Amino acid sequence: MWKAIIPLALAFVGQVAGQTVYLAGDSTTAPGGGGEGTEGWGQYLHYSLKIPVVNKAFAGRSARSFTREGRFDEIGKLIKKGDFVVIEFGHNDETVHTFPYYLEQAAKSYVAKGAHVLISSQTPNNPDESGVFVSAPSRFVDLAKTAAANAKVDYVDHSAYALAAYKPLPVQTVDSYFPNDHTHTAPKGADLVAQAFVRGLVCGGSLLSNYVKNATSAIEGACLK
Ligand SMILES: *[C@@H]1O[C@H](CO)[C@@H](O)[C@H](O)[C@H]1NC(C)=O
Repeated sequence: MWKAIIPLALAFVGQVAGQTVYLAGDSTTAPGGGGEGTEGWGQYLHYSLKIPVVNKAFAGRSARSFTREGRFDEIGKLIKKGDFVVIEFGHNDETVHTFPYYLEQAAKSYVAKGAHVLISSQTPNNPDESGVFVSAPSRFVDLAKTAAANAKVDYVDHSAYALAAYKPLPVQTVDSYFPNDHTHTAPKGADLVAQAFVRGLVCGGSLLSNYVKNATSAIEGACLK
């Protein structure tokens, strides 16, 4: 009997009343997405969670400019012990050797404040752009994983889970999710990408998965290796 009760009790350790999930990212996550007709996936995450989501992602930002403009600091001032922060960049990042550095700095500063940090790999660009499904991840995917390992925080391979969600869909459907360019999703695409994040979250077993309101069996897709 105790064997059954102890893991259950442990699952509640770290749950503090009034917890919030903060999102740091670029236009693919942000409110309003990348402009007219698009939306960031972060706007759909709250449909799957039991705790509030505050979307602090901002269009056009890289891990570096998010740092320099004080946007990571702004989140740092808001977080309380037990809150969650999801950090997802890559689309606007150029200087490869500094990308993991900025993510690690932000992650470590939040961990020091008692937050649970998740580094999430960037969303994929339209994988059906050329008419054949291309699933090669951006080089920033591996770098995000490295940053998570270095900062000793959770990692969600959002890129891989989003690709897995796009894969079974007809080319025309996937194309319709990218109305303006190959990066920014229409609201329906953003919803799918948010669900893919949640699938990755549940499969990875981060503490935040305790706050997913959907039954695991109700979430589309399989766990990836
Ligand atoms: C969870 O359920 C809500 C509807 O209650 C839905 O909007 C959301 O997309 C679902 N999440 C996943 C990951 O399937």
